[in-house]
Amino acid sequence: MNEPHNANEDAPEMTDTPATPATLGHVAIHYAKNEYGPMAARLFKLLGFSVREEIPLPDGSVFYHFLVDADATNNGDGIVYLSPLRRAHRWLYDSIHEALGIGTENEHPAVAKVRKSEAQDPEAGFHVGFLIPTLERIEEAFARVKAEAEADPEFGRHVEIVLNRAKPGTPDIDARLDASPLYRDVTRHTYGRNGVQAFVRTDLLCSGPLGDDVVIEFDYVFPGYPDNILTKTEM
Ligand SMILES: [Fe+2]
Repeated sequence: MNEPHNANEDAPEMTDTPATPATLGHVAIHYAKNEYGPMAARLFKLLGFSVREEIPLPDGSVFYHFLVDADATNNGDGIVYLSPLRRAHRWLYDSIHEALGIGTENEHPAVAKVRKSEAQDPEAGFHVGFLIPTLERIEEAFARVKAEAEADPEFGRHVEIVLNRAKPGTPDIDARLDASPLYRDVTRHTYGRNGVQAFVRTDLLCSGPLGDDVVIEFDYVFPGYPDNILTKTEM
């Protein structure tokens, strides 16, 4: 008598152990106006993200699929999707601005409070953080953004860079940052220790309750410090 055929006998063995750990897979970010799409994509390319797909949409805008690191496993994670803000969302944001009297003399007082808070701290509102494996990579990415902002004022007026040095007190880290073209003159500091942060705030992208902007954060942690900005929050 024949053994019953097992249709799955050639299939990979299923086990309870996942091949890879769970990761943050993707974030979907929207550009504020259709005409901002190419500039928003340029910002991501300058930051070092690579384009996996660039799909033209019927209204002339583009849907971009970026990889945070082209050399990573790219197994469905490390993805940033960039697409135009949908019309319904634009309508909602416009309605919020109108209802709160934004930019008028009757502006709701909460608006100024939130904007002040976010101006002082780029992490006060919605933002997206990326862990970067070398400090040089952050220095090079932000040098490219700075150079482009200076060369093209139209691009430059949409980007604001904010930098946080590591808290002082670790001599080799202090020396490395004193020698850094990006960090040597920086006076702001991270909340935690032994790492740095570099932020780009841009109104090319929109998020948050007012749809004003998005903050992109790059982090680097110096090796050999288990207590660092990403493992131990200090307030
Ligand atoms: Fe953050």
